[in-house]
Amino acid sequence: MIAKQTALQQLPPDLDRERLPNHVAVIMDGNGRWAKQKGLPRIMGHQRGVDSLKALLRCCKDWGIGALTAYAFSSENWGRPLDEVNFLMSLFERVLRQELKEMMAENVQIRFVGNLEALPKSLQAEIESAMTATRNNKDIKFTVATNYGGRQEIVQACRAIAEKVQRGQLQPDQIDEILFERHLYTADLGDPDLLIRTSGEMRLSNFLLWQAAYSELYVTDTLWPDFDREEFHRAIYSYQQRHRRFGKL
Ligand code: FPP
Repeated sequence: MIAKQTALQQLPPDLDRERLPNHVAVIMDGNGRWAKQKGLPRIMGHQRGVDSLKALLRCCKDWGIGALTAYAFSSENWGRPLDEVNFLMSLFERVLRQELKEMMAENVQIRFVGNLEALPKSLQAEIESAMTATRNNKDIKFTVATNYGGRQEIVQACRAIAEKVQRGQLQPDQIDEILFERHLYTADLGDPDLLIRTSGEMRLSNFLLWQAAYSELYVTDTLWPDFDREEFHRAIYSYQQRHRRFGKL
């Protein structure tokens, strides 16, 4: 999952190591448009998108960012042509199989979040073995949102909490934000400090609705397959110019 090292491995001097985001989330948009611009089938955009993701993971690791969360497939993406959906499912499976050794060598902990039960069984098995194998890796937490929807995540958390109340394991007045967060897929991950979206659209598209409450947003017109270290550098630079107030003065 980690791309080959490049000359730009060091943190660029205009970035402040003390004020890096701990957790970066990314909406990888624009694969289809990238392919269309080049006269290629859409799936080639997804194929190249994997390279961008590997490069970003490598960069986060090099620069000491502890968590990266990527939106790979939304619960709405099932509405795409069957060929494209099937390609994406087999792409996830293939990449996981091919990159597991490197994730172990690079100390990457991979986790998939979303309604995973609806994914093809062979992909579920690959996910399970990658999650189990990398579970104790510590350098970076890499979370892939697949068949993920923020509203659905919130609803499943409500349901799990309601069941505990019904069984008498929990009193309604014990429900607070901390307890609620423990029932989200991202329970031990923490909220993203910086949320990046490529290809210019200014929306969250049902990604991390709860967790992004105070995330700094960065939108670039660059299409995902062209998102590289320079682009990430610009995103972090922009993040470091901001004053985060979390609703306070
Ligand atoms: C959005 O572009 C991209 C996706 C729906 C798929 C993203 C998936 C990857 C990059 C593969 C990741 C692989 C692993 C193993 C995590 P789009 O198709 O919506 O582009 P468009 O808006 O230009 O049509």
